[in-house]
Amino acid sequence: MNRASLILIALAAGVVATAAARPAAPQPSAWQWDLPEGIAPPPVPADNPMSQAKVDLGRRLFYDADLSIDGTMACSNCHNQRRGFADSTRTRPGVHGDAGRRNVQGLANVSYLSPLTWGDTRLTTLEQQAMVPVFGDDPVEMGMLGQDAELARRLSADGCYRAMFLAAFPETGGRVDTPAVAKALAAFQRTLLSFDSPVDRRQRGDAGALTAEAKRGEALFGAHCASCHAGQDFTDRQFHALEDPAAAMTDTGLAHATGQASDRGRYRTPSLRNVALTGPYWHDGSVESMGEAIARHARVLPGNVLTQERERQDIIAFLHGLTDQRFATDPRFAYPDGICLAYRAD
Ligand code: HEC
Ligand code: HEC
Repeated sequence: MNRASLILIALAAGVVATAAARPAAPQPSAWQWDLPEGIAPPPVPADNPMSQAKVDLGRRLFYDADLSIDGTMACSNCHNQRRGFADSTRTRPGVHGDAGRRNVQGLANVSYLSPLTWGDTRLTTLEQQAMVPVFGDDPVEMGMLGQDAELARRLSADGCYRAMFLAAFPETGGRVDTPAVAKALAAFQRTLLSFDSPVDRRQRGDAGALTAEAKRGEALFGAHCASCHAGQDFTDRQFHALEDPAAAMTDTGLAHATGQASDRGRYRTPSLRNVALTGPYWHDGSVESMGEAIARHARVLPGNVLTQERERQDIIAFLHGLTDQRFATDPRFAYPDGICLAYRAD
């Protein structure tokens, strides 16, 4: 037997040993999505199939400040579960104190949203996007530009991570590198599914899930808002300029990514899932309340929606109905306390 096949056998044995040491994980092909009837699973890239081990690894990475240059900033610093995975700042500065450019987005059902972020047609997968906060410099968030080797060194130094990478990526022998980090973060984020708001329950036939006020708001929303805040996640995933593009001075919106003058001031319609938890609002966080956000739609909405106080209150009651409390408190998405116990080999 040649050396390569011996190594393969050794690796396979290692995988079996690791698998036996932790609770039975479903095989990638058998991944069970936790979805209500009639909801299609999110798309998953062929080269990053789901597995429990990968999701667990991604969850630990999501909460790990070692992904930032000075060890102070995890994804979760900006993406806070209790706030629908957004935060309460207008824009959050990165590790070097550079002002953030944009308001932190919530992550409910982010697996269905492509392209990603407020204004970038190039970011189409969660694998790609996850590298932007870690290695990006426009603006600097976690500050790891050029530090791929350092990231791998830090994570490999931890016995728990070594066991988790092996369980998540048996095909590479558990190699700890940047692509594996991106894949695991993406797999975790694909599990951030939110379908239990009162509006969801009403759509599933629970007539009592919404108050009378919210039901009136639902009709108004359908008439005035759902053309853009469309579909399952209340976004058409298209880019619109709600304000005068000529006034877009500090942030040019989609034009910042495409360089096209015609994209100036255009932003992807935000998902409205958990919108009552994700304020402040707008691409620059300049809007304090949902009522103010509605008022900022003056260029695209007929005057009566903006001026009638009662109609606005009804719509706001409907927007409150988009809060999924179970999602915001689901222990499967929280800080992974004790996750190493299931994996640690040494
Ligand atoms: C310093 C704060 C900060 C940190 C840290 C951070 N993010 Fe974000 N995140 C943001 C902001 C701001 C946006 C919107 C960016 C934009 O539109 O340019 C965003 C957008 C996103 C989106 C797109 C959501 C959508 O609706 O399209 C995803 C996914 C995401 N972040 C995941 C992550 C992951 C994974 C990490 C950790 C590796 C992370 N973020 C770390 C602030 C942060
Ligand atoms: C022409 C498309 C369009 C229509 C119609 C529309 N919106 Fe929007 N909405 C957007 C876009 C685009 C943004 C982001 C604007 C920005 O940040 O510059 C937005 C932002 C918002 C926000 C802030 C969300 C956040 O996370 O920052 C709320 C709330 C909102 N819209 C609610 C509504 C309601 C309620 C209606 C109907 C009364 C409505 N929208 C109609 C496109 C639309």
